[in-house]
Amino acid sequence: MALEEKIKKLVDMRAEARLGGGEKRIESQHKKGKYTARERINMLLDEGSFEEIDMFVTHRCHNFGIEKESYLGDGVVTGYGTIDGRMVYVFSQDFTVMGGSLSETNAKKICKVMDMAMKAGVPIIGLNDSGGARIQEGVTSLSGYAEIFQRNIEASGVVPQLSAILGPCAGGAVYSPALTDYIIMSESNSYMFVTGPKVTKTVTGETITENDLGGAMVHASKSGVAHFVAHDEEDAINTLKRLISYMPQNFKEQTPRVECTDPIDRMEDALNTILPDNPNKPYDVKDIIKLIVDNGEFEEVHKDYAKNIVVGFARFNGQSVGIVANQPSFLAGCLDIESSRKGARFIRFCDCFNIPLVTLVDVPGFMPGSNQEYGGIITNGAKLMYAYGEATVPKVTVTLRKSYGGAHDVMSSKQLKGDFNYAWPSAEIAVMGASGAIEVLYAKGMKEIENPEEKAKYAAEKEAEYKEAFANPYQAAKYGYIDDVIEPRNTRFRIIRALAALATKKDTRPNKKHNNIPL
Ligand code: HXC
Repeated sequence: MALEEKIKKLVDMRAEARLGGGEKRIESQHKKGKYTARERINMLLDEGSFEEIDMFVTHRCHNFGIEKESYLGDGVVTGYGTIDGRMVYVFSQDFTVMGGSLSETNAKKICKVMDMAMKAGVPIIGLNDSGGARIQEGVTSLSGYAEIFQRNIEASGVVPQLSAILGPCAGGAVYSPALTDYIIMSESNSYMFVTGPKVTKTVTGETITENDLGGAMVHASKSGVAHFVAHDEEDAINTLKRLISYMPQNFKEQTPRVECTDPIDRMEDALNTILPDNPNKPYDVKDIIKLIVDNGEFEEVHKDYAKNIVVGFARFNGQSVGIVANQPSFLAGCLDIESSRKGARFIRFCDCFNIPLVTLVDVPGFMPGSNQEYGGIITNGAKLMYAYGEATVPKVTVTLRKSYGGAHDVMSSKQLKGDFNYAWPSAEIAVMGASGAIEVLYAKGMKEIENPEEKAKYAAEKEAEYKEAFANPYQAAKYGYIDDVIEPRNTRFRIIRALAALATKKDTRPNKKHNNIPL
């Protein structure tokens, strides 16, 4: 065969591979409101940057007549390209080929790009849309999944791993995204569950729809499995792009810096009056976040889950940071099981990838009650403490208002190796709030007073005394636990300066195999 003919054969084979499962199935994918694997990659990567590999891989299974049905690429498109000029590796499951089901060879393709991403120190992005294990292949498909899981585990903390769920994701297949750093689910077409509605009905008798069992909002608000809900596929892809912009390529690199167009010494007078006069009144801490970060841009993570803590990415002077803030407008910003887990996971991600932490504190304490105790608030609260204590990235803490009890210690306190701990003059750093404290301290004295009016007067006096002594930041500042008390309107500038002073921070942990976070 002449070279010209050989080239034509190559061109034809490429065209065939690009059609995946064929035009009919592409049409059917579009009819469901879904994009194809390649269309998704094109939306994600810079134009013309995608280099596909393993386009000619086919399965080698001979069961159930599948040997007669074979497609170039075998149900997953893999390769590399750039997002805003930064390299990423990507795999995109092709539902038009046997429902994107995972075969032995399909898994090998995914593992190959994961291995390459690890070697190159480059993030890996998975676009998931699959009917799960290829049923005809049996155990080789299961082992393929396990090969992927093992790589997810090994890549954890080495390179960022992001997953978008853009179709079905069921059975054991859910565990690959679950092992990655962030999951984005498209609201329109995706679901995730270990066991689907049919088997659920058979085993437990429960009747439930796919969406109610494992839809995007369910996982974003109830289980916390999904970190982001996207309205549609475009939104999911755009979320991936924004997210990756905050992350370094790998754990050895510093966070990316973008040019900062927002004055670093911008004073925000509104911050001096933003807190309600009554310390028990709620406010939205996101208003404060938006006033201090570059251009008011805040990429909130887990927006709909455990709303009493707010976590997400922002920039100060162009540098990515992770923000953790108690949210007084939800459950008074107290720490409970879910918010502790949410905070801990986010902090550990930031620490893996050298993203400094900025913590805004307004916390009345841990949520009391049997639900919390039976659910293990002790172990779960310890996760948040552990995450802060083990983090070696720069840690800047600003106490806005309340910082009581154990929750004070947990929220990036000086003793958990907080680098710069600032407080607003409105800060109240104490073992507990005034009314609770005087009930314990003056229980005997109160009992002795019978007249209710006198009792109330006595209580008010003692409360005022307690507040004078403890409802302020100066007791903590006296001991150096607070490095400075700052004017609220200067908060942005003070944080930026602190981060600059910490830019060369080096901290180490004791030598060990690995730690043992209370899971
Ligand atoms: C082989 C599969 C497949 C699979 C779908 N297909 N899933 N082929 N193995 N797992 C094929 C279909 O036969 C069909 O082929 C094409 O993909 C599209 O599927 P449809 O059913 O027509 O599409 P839709 O109506 O959108 O339904 C999608 C679906 C459904 C909900 C995913 O296909 C389905 O329920 N599939 C089986 C899911 C499943 O039980 N998977 C195994 C889970 S256990 P044609 O030729 O008609 O286009 C598992 C274990 C993992 O994954 C363990 C890891 C440790």
